[in-house]
Amino acid sequence: QQFKSRTAELAGKKLLISAGGTREPLDPVRYLTNHSSGKMGFAIAEAAQAAGADVTLIAANTSLPVPDNVKVVRVQTARELLAAIKARFSEADALIMAAAVADYRPANVAEQKIKKTAQNTTMTLELVRNPDILKEIGLLKKPDQLLIGFAAETNDLITNAEKKIKAKHLDLIVANDVSQRGIGFNADNNQVTFLFKNGEQQKTAIESKQRVAKQLIEILSHRLFN
Ligand code: CTP
Ligand code: CA
Repeated sequence: QQFKSRTAELAGKKLLISAGGTREPLDPVRYLTNHSSGKMGFAIAEAAQAAGADVTLIAANTSLPVPDNVKVVRVQTARELLAAIKARFSEADALIMAAAVADYRPANVAEQKIKKTAQNTTMTLELVRNPDILKEIGLLKKPDQLLIGFAAETNDLITNAEKKIKAKHLDLIVANDVSQRGIGFNADNNQVTFLFKNGEQQKTAIESKQRVAKQLIEILSHRLFN
């Protein structure tokens, strides 16, 4: 009887994976955020660990259990997420940016709770742009490091994802249609199109985030790291 050994396809690889959605404070009790639950990023971390990778998960405001043998760093804002990634990227073989990063944050964070008054029946918030983390990390990337992004789109999925893969110098983008209920944001299932630098596309069925994560790890082990 011959034993088929389970190959640790990502053994020796250090992966940085971001997950969740950033929170941008407005005052001590309020913040701006998005619908990300962190499920996709956590599923990727679990699949990568199972494939033998050394995984650091940078989790923005998630309440999910951390997979066994995965290191976790907790952050709140986009700027904290950038700092946490910058501090670790030079050691990493790949960065997978599954986090939903707020593009803007309140220009001012009030020290005390903002009160409503009889006069203020409307309110205008001034927002400023957050750093584009993938773009900044792209400038630090060495030729043997991989950058993988996500594209959350409600329309023109492939056209928009193609623009992002080029603009952010990515090796792969996971394009995600977030206009449909039950898949994508805050859901258990997902359906994505893996889009490669050379324009090649690979569309998954509607399936669990665990299965989508496994397919991403397969692509990483058999294609991108070779
Ligand atoms: N991302 C990032 N830093 C930001 C915003 C996004 O690193 N400030 C990353 C996301 O984690 C994702 C990819 O960039 O992997 C694409 O994010 P997305 O929001 O789809 O694209 P944007 O470039 O922000 O463009 P837009 O929201 O205008 O479509
Ligand atoms: Ca965005």
